[in-house]
Amino acid sequence: MLDDVYTRPLKDLRISLTDRCNFRCTYCMPFDEYEWIDKKEILTFEEITRLAGLFVQLGVDKIRLTGGEPLLRKDLEKLISKLSSLNGLEDLCLTTNGSLLAEKVSALKSAGLRRINVSLDTLNAEKFARIRRRGDLAKVLEGLFAAKRCGLRPIKINVVVERGNNEDDIIDLVEFSRKNGFALRFIEYMDVGNSNNWTSEKLVSKKEILDIIDARYPLREVGRDKGSAPSMDYDFIDGRGEIGVIASVTEPFCSTCTRARLTADGKLVTCLFSATGYDLKALLRNGATDDKIIEIVSAIWQKRTDGYSDERLEAMNSGRGYRAKDHKKIEMITLGG
Ligand SMILES: C[S@@+](CC[C@H](N)C(=O)[O-])C[C@H]1O[C@@H](n2cnc3c(N)ncnc32)[C@H](O)[C@@H]1O
Ligand code: SF4
Repeated sequence: MLDDVYTRPLKDLRISLTDRCNFRCTYCMPFDEYEWIDKKEILTFEEITRLAGLFVQLGVDKIRLTGGEPLLRKDLEKLISKLSSLNGLEDLCLTTNGSLLAEKVSALKSAGLRRINVSLDTLNAEKFARIRRRGDLAKVLEGLFAAKRCGLRPIKINVVVERGNNEDDIIDLVEFSRKNGFALRFIEYMDVGNSNNWTSEKLVSKKEILDIIDARYPLREVGRDKGSAPSMDYDFIDGRGEIGVIASVTEPFCSTCTRARLTADGKLVTCLFSATGYDLKALLRNGATDDKIIEIVSAIWQKRTDGYSDERLEAMNSGRGYRAKDHKKIEMITLGG
């Protein structure tokens, strides 16, 4: 196992397949246009597969494909097929906004995808339009049910809770998920990227989210999957389903973080809140051997000391306070949420 400075092993890899997205969610892409990564700088499927194989050799057993919107990558099933046959990879999953899922899920399942996360913050069409600013709720719901019919399990719904936006949708989403057999993952609103105007006032804490749900549908804490997953999981006491809460702001899990990220243009990033990454694509395209890439990735991981969310909480609790704008970060669409 490859450990960092704080003995956190490298176990997970999140790969951003593209920085493009067909939505413009207020919490992620508040602007209409961005400076997009040049198409020729985006990693090819062959390059992604080669790097993924090397990360698996280093101990990664779980890969999540994300973005931007990963389903915008043409022929995505070809990549799924290559990755799902990597020896040593135990878990391959995908996070999507669901807009193109209905038409693509069957090919993804046949290529080897077993499970999926679909982002959905409200069941109210008007609110959906306000929060996600493009796309259409009906298409996302169609995608969710198509995934269910195809047999993907589990299907998790990711909900970003932002005060004033959708805290009053929590119970609707719980009831919808319990009825239809979906698992829910509530995510505390985070100061990802540089433009979403995050403030702590917009945060709905894990405690608040749990209190709202527990008052109606009592919960029992289960814990974190493998002890290191971002989500703290809960079962409903009546046995009808489960939820999880990712509390990166109020209960950071930096001390157990085993995740590396690969940006759409091939940079290795060791924290969701990093300002820079290491250009692995340059190595690939300059003919580096597998051994050389493994040596460099190992050296980067062994020096890793990231703990951004711990530091944020400490600043928030101190007299100094915390201003998201003072910290320049890579955009979430580039490094993969
Ligand atoms: C960046 S998206 C990429 C995948 C895909 N486009 C989607 O929306 O599912 C990955 C996840 O990050 C979440 N996310 C985006 N901005 C966030 C923020 N400011 N705070 C918390 N979660 C966020 C999204 O809701 C989504 O579940
Ligand atoms: S959260 Fe996903 S769907 Fe929304 S803008 Fe970001 S990448 Fe696109």
